[in-house]
Amino acid sequence: MEGISELREGSVTLVVPKDPLKKKAFYNPSAALSRDMTVLFIKALEEKELEICDSLAGTGARSVRILKETGKASRVWIVERSHEAVDFIHHNLKVNGLANKAYVFEMDANVFLYQHAGFFDFVDIDPFGSPVYYLEGAVRAAKRKAYLAVTATDQKALMGFSPRTTMRRYGIRAIKTDMKHEIGLRNLIATVAFAVARYEYVFIPMISFHHIHYYRVIGRLEKRHAYTGDYLKENTGIIHYCPYCLDRDMSQSFSGTCYCGREFRPIYPTWIGSMHDREHVLRMLALVDTTPLQNPSEVKKILKIVSRETNALPYNIHEIASHYKLIVPPRKYLLSKLPDSSAVHHLPYGIKTSARLKDVLEVMKEFKEKQSNPETQQ
Ligand SMILES: C[S@@+](CC[C@H](N)C(=O)[O-])C[C@H]1O[C@@H](n2cnc3c(N)ncnc32)[C@H](O)[C@@H]1O
Ligand SMILES: [Zn+2]
Repeated sequence: MEGISELREGSVTLVVPKDPLKKKAFYNPSAALSRDMTVLFIKALEEKELEICDSLAGTGARSVRILKETGKASRVWIVERSHEAVDFIHHNLKVNGLANKAYVFEMDANVFLYQHAGFFDFVDIDPFGSPVYYLEGAVRAAKRKAYLAVTATDQKALMGFSPRTTMRRYGIRAIKTDMKHEIGLRNLIATVAFAVARYEYVFIPMISFHHIHYYRVIGRLEKRHAYTGDYLKENTGIIHYCPYCLDRDMSQSFSGTCYCGREFRPIYPTWIGSMHDREHVLRMLALVDTTPLQNPSEVKKILKIVSRETNALPYNIHEIASHYKLIVPPRKYLLSKLPDSSAVHHLPYGIKTSARLKDVLEVMKEFKEKQSNPETQQ
């Protein structure tokens, strides 16, 4: 093959196009962390063997790594509609001695998924842009109990920075906030949960994260019939945000007025339930040192923070400090003073806590006071 380069990712060799635009075969080195996480997620599952579908496979990097590194996939079903990309998939399987471990389909992902109803234990959806066009196919192809992994790169719409697109594509009313990736992730989870509920499945997120240019959520699917409605009622609702005083909260019903007396701006319907299964995240973390990942230290850093993240909304301490003319206290200080608090993997100056804004402000004012009167410090 001409115009190709060979590289290593994780424990595999990959043959990829030098110029993806010329070759119509997609390989993105900056998505290696998404593949690292997928490998760890699958490796950390209790199941010994899984039927896996990589439905938008590009050059097959994800499938090759799943086959070689998880020890859980005897075969992977690889689907890709670009003929040139499929050539790379065959090549990559061969180079890694995996040619007899995969079924490769050069076809449309949705056609494939609909033709394989109830077949898979794990379905991966990793599109360019929004995943909405593949969610129904994915749930149709899933067994009654299965896992679903979804990537979204249309961050602007999911974050609410382009509210009309958020409404059109996701059916969610959203606005711009100072916790954009939290909103993006929660909107993505809600979208998956609503899509699968139409087929009487619940979606239980086990890990959700943001990295560079994408959101990724991986979770459990379970066929639960009528319970699905109760599950959605419990886990979806409204995020309230006040752009004037920067207060925020989440609830199952509307609360009209903010402390500052102004009307809250609602984002809904979105996900207010848990975004992680802490036990599973810890199992993934425990495997980092013994798995040949591409970005072990970054993966470890994200998993450590995620394993401690509470289900509260984050406060953007930087924004709050500049809005109220306060100074940014060290994170350790805030963690020690605020209840149920944790760092936030997608917000360097963020903190999650069950405290309301007025209590966060109290702690920040106290810190500022201490800084200006050092003799009051203990
Ligand atoms: C973001 S890339 C996938 C990257 C890959 N999962 C990885 O980890 O390297 C999306 C891929 O989906 C393919 N694609 C887009 N629409 C498709 C469709 N309807 N059916 C099958 N493949 C499709 C594109 O050709 C592209 O290779
Ligand atoms: Zn307010």
